Amino acid sequence: VIVRPLADDELAFVDARLPLSRLGNEGGQYVVAWLDRQPVGHAHIAWRQTRLGVPEVQDVFVAEAHRRRGIATQLVEVVETLVRERGGDALSLSVGIGNYAAQALWDRLGFVDAGIEPERILGTITLRDEPFEVDDTLVYLVKRLGPSAPEPPL
Ligand SMILES: CC(C)(COP(=O)(O)OP(=O)(O)OC[C@H]1O[C@@H](n2cnc3c(N)ncnc32)[C@H](O)[C@@H]1OP(=O)(O)O)[C@@H](O)C(=O)NCCC(=O)NCCS
Repeated sequence: VIVRPLADDELAFVDARLPLSRLGNEGGQYVVAWLDRQPVGHAHIAWRQTRLGVPEVQDVFVAEAHRRRGIATQLVEVVETLVRERGGDALSLSVGIGNYAAQALWDRLGFVDAGIEPERILGTITLRDEPFEVDDTLVYLVKRLGPSAPEPPL
């Protein structure tokens, strides 16, 4: 599996195969995991205007047939590298309070509770001009990024 930033000339191809629900967000960027020339997963980085004021990884998704093979882990490693390259020293995210699979992933990758109140998201949100009804509670997590070796949590 190769993970790299989504290039403009790959956009239509990937968009037809994976749910790039944050596509077009200002100040954002996707990285995509490729296996045998097919896109099998993605993660979006919001560089600005995030809840915690540090870069936030969003819309981490791996196609069902390819889960539990370390692809999300690889996606997040590349995101962390991109953040470090820009001089960032922390990465944040939010996870649904009932999303135990994702919570296990974040725990394993060293994300810890950011210390802010979980946020109830209730009502209609707009993703790529489409309305979605949501009722979820998001927990915010953060990971300090050391220059190379992992550092102890906050
Ligand atoms: C969550 C998700 C991104 C994980 O992708 P993945 O490529 O399967 O994750 P990885 O293979 O890198 O998992 C690494 C570790 O995370 C944990 N983990 C991942 N999926 C898990 C699951 N379903 N149940 C329990 N633990 C899980 C495990 O510790 C796993 O290591 P292991 O397989 O050696 O036990 C994927 O299930 C997905 O796309 N889900 C739908 C979208 C979503 O919920 N995104 C996260 C939003 S915050």
